[in-house]
Amino acid sequence: MTTNQHTTPLPTTHRWPEGAIVYQIYPRSIQDSNGDGIGDLPGVISRLDYLQELGVNAIWLSPFYPSPMADFGYDIADYCDVDPMFGTLDDCKRLIHEAEARHIKVMIDLVPNHSSNEHPWFKESRQSRDNPKANWYVWKDPHPDSTPGHPLPPNNWIDVFTGKSAWEWVPERKQFYLHSFHVAQPDLNWSNSEVRAAVKDVMRFWLDMGVDGFRVDAVYWIAKDPFFRNDPVNPAFDPKEDERYKMLTHVNSCGWPAAYAYLSELAHVLHEPAFAQKERFMVTEAYPKDGDAVAAYLAFYEGIDPQVAAPFNFQGLMLRWEAEPWRRFLRVFHHALESLNPLCVPSYAFGNHDKSRMVSRLGEKAARAAALMQLTLPGMVFVYYGEEIGMRDVPIPVDLVQDPEALGDPQGQGRDPERTPMQWTPGHQAGFSTSTETWLPIGPDYKTLNVEAEKDDPRSFYTLYRTLMALRNERESLRYGFVQVLELGHPDLVGYVRSYKDEYHVVLINFSDQPVTCVPGVKLHKFVVSSNPDANLTDGANGTVELLPYEAVLFTQ
Ligand code: NOJ
Repeated sequence: MTTNQHTTPLPTTHRWPEGAIVYQIYPRSIQDSNGDGIGDLPGVISRLDYLQELGVNAIWLSPFYPSPMADFGYDIADYCDVDPMFGTLDDCKRLIHEAEARHIKVMIDLVPNHSSNEHPWFKESRQSRDNPKANWYVWKDPHPDSTPGHPLPPNNWIDVFTGKSAWEWVPERKQFYLHSFHVAQPDLNWSNSEVRAAVKDVMRFWLDMGVDGFRVDAVYWIAKDPFFRNDPVNPAFDPKEDERYKMLTHVNSCGWPAAYAYLSELAHVLHEPAFAQKERFMVTEAYPKDGDAVAAYLAFYEGIDPQVAAPFNFQGLMLRWEAEPWRRFLRVFHHALESLNPLCVPSYAFGNHDKSRMVSRLGEKAARAAALMQLTLPGMVFVYYGEEIGMRDVPIPVDLVQDPEALGDPQGQGRDPERTPMQWTPGHQAGFSTSTETWLPIGPDYKTLNVEAEKDDPRSFYTLYRTLMALRNERESLRYGFVQVLELGHPDLVGYVRSYKDEYHVVLINFSDQPVTCVPGVKLHKFVVSSNPDANLTDGANGTVELLPYEAVLFTQ
């Protein structure tokens, strides 16, 4: 096999996001340092050594800003401070400094679409139609069919959480404001350049403090139909299965092209000379709507400078765990990216604080194979806390459910099951807290499923993740290499080669629940690691590999 079949010249320098392993921290759930049952920033600092040893290159912190916590921090009342529940600004500075000392980059959440209704901007805006912040939020008059004393919402838009009207009446202004998410999260008016300037100042505040980048929340919502037309009814909606939000097809309430121009303005801030002493980067959160996911991702790479920005790639959360869709996606997406611009950085998330955990979604064997796949794909890979020990969704008793999204969810659980405290030890509260109660319950399996128990167990999730992360950190072809999808001639197999300079790796994945004989047609040489601890693989020298059900393997030269 030739090791580099591409003609594109290889870059001589690399930006830090290329090949980076980014660990997502949900600050409430990593480590409680003050015994109140809620994680905090000093708690995060105390776990940085762990992250360094694991092989993490960067962290992304979900919001830690002052907030009434209607949406657990995604409702921000002050963009430039720390909620006392999580610590202080000094703790944050210390965290950035301590992370840097361990060569760990820090990305923070930027939430541009909405603030809290407790934010001073909104408090001012709601007071009248002519105050200085009157147009900072999305205000509309009642629908013309309204009758006196019965104002009707201006259109049929619904909020993501409850699937009910996204408009809330404010008697002081005799107008409705828009909240695409929680009623306590009013949408900022992105067509107002003063709002955009204010958000750019927020970025500058944190860049000055030393953060390396941002994860940008809910970016499709910053651009809506300027005529505020109704969203059409979704004919495929199933009230028994689907959350209420799916009742409509959201073609007007979000996802308009102005989003790329607005995000480009944010990307420009990352280039400003004041911040040039470090490379900064931002990753935007936008789930492709039904249809062509590749086109949806490419629109971001084309619309926003790929030197400093990339969209999350959510295929790891959206695709069925089946060979055919993955084979097709990898082939089309990576080919398109490589042709578009060599600066494009893929950005794969297979789990996050909004989605059911990998093991619960896929089952243990497939989740281990997915880990091997994710950690051998190019670009940034986002590992959600707890994935590295195989944490599962934790069922939440009805009276303990906290998430506002539970209101619109037919199962009534919302996103709490994937947000429970990290399981560190088999001891009190899994080593997360000294308190008698934690903000969400600890997983019932914590006595066996925890970092301490898994560290020295060669069969554990932890050992698999640590091995894969070490390889990714050591091997240039896994960090920087191209992807070449193999023709394996079997419906249940996907294989690809990662190659860079003279080094290459081959990944083979069996998506079926049956053993499969694989004839890769490329030299395999040395077996490196399998997702299955029962695998008994040698060097694949005879040109075939026997793959166990749901097994993924990595070979090198
Ligand atoms: C996406 C975030 O990931 C989610 O947790 C949040 O509820 C919404 N955006 C609204 O900010």
